Amino acid sequence: MGAAACGSESIVRKPFGKTPEGQAVELYCLTNRNGMQASIMTYGGIVVSLTAPDRDGRYADVVLGFDRLEDYLAGHPYFGALIGRYGNRIAKGRFTLDGTPYTLAVNDGENHLHGGIRGFDKAVWQARGAIEKTGLEVALAYASADGEEGYPGNLAVKVVYTLTDSNELKIEYSATTDKPTPVNLTNHSYFNLAGQDSGDILGHELAIAADRFTPVDKGLIPSGELRPVAGTPFDFRQPTAIGARIEQADEQLQFGGGYDHNFVLNRRQEGALELAASVYEPKSGRLMEVFTTEPGIQFYSGNFLDGTNVGKGGKVYNRRNGLCLETQHFPDSPNKPAFPAVILRPGREYSTTTVYRFSAQ
Ligand code: BGC
Repeated sequence: MGAAACGSESIVRKPFGKTPEGQAVELYCLTNRNGMQASIMTYGGIVVSLTAPDRDGRYADVVLGFDRLEDYLAGHPYFGALIGRYGNRIAKGRFTLDGTPYTLAVNDGENHLHGGIRGFDKAVWQARGAIEKTGLEVALAYASADGEEGYPGNLAVKVVYTLTDSNELKIEYSATTDKPTPVNLTNHSYFNLAGQDSGDILGHELAIAADRFTPVDKGLIPSGELRPVAGTPFDFRQPTAIGARIEQADEQLQFGGGYDHNFVLNRRQEGALELAASVYEPKSGRLMEVFTTEPGIQFYSGNFLDGTNVGKGGKVYNRRNGLCLETQHFPDSPNKPAFPAVILRPGREYSTTTVYRFSAQ
């Protein structure tokens, strides 16, 4: 049975297999009043499927992933997963905090990526489903131990997914710690608004509310510069097809093999929930708008997808068959004092919100 087959109730919880260590994994299937469905599993807090209506009201699954837990356990490029303790890269897995040097697990060349070898995407989260006035909710909790992947402090993490009747998937992240530590949580869903089995995303029209982006080196570590997008293939201030400039001779596009960059969001008010990006798929008419309280967003055009992942319904995911818009603090911030701060201290609460809203035109 496909993961998207959820039944008719509002929240259905069902077993989804076991990890090699014998931990039971569950799948929460949420169905809102319009018939939109989200299924989220306790392994990695992964969004396994998410449906959205086209302009004729037909729902399709718009996220890449697998039908079975085994395929996720076998390894994959973070499909739908919660990412932590630190989303994206930390150069050489090293940083110094309050004078103390820390060494993190290195899992991407010489760098630390998405929380390390066993990041939050591979944890089994505690879950609770509830029907709230605001929508259908799955609250996930994970206790990240002091020293996990090299990070200091016991971090208590909570992520609440809410599917609303306005066809939004809202994600609220919060965390507290008992020692200062960097924290940068996100979700790594790969979207294809034509449907997860529809080929490349080059015809999707993307807009990002960013006048600047953070250029990177060959290892995809930001140089520290905030570079204007004007006059570059990174100017998405007006909706532009992703494929329109992706093959241009541009050093930054070469380093990423396409787009794999953090954009510095234009903000009216720091920390407010504001529109960061939108993606429109002209054939289906599906539109996704991304709102966030975060200062940055990683636009990744699925450049490293290479046909090795056989996804839902047997679909082989090839290069650029999905795109990610990961709301975040900037990569390598623990080593970039000029970037917005990412250190959570005891007594303070980390709290961010991101909303993916779906409609059709
Ligand atoms: C990174 C990419 C990486 C991808 C999958 C993105 O967030 O920026 O470089 O390949 O995640 O791991």
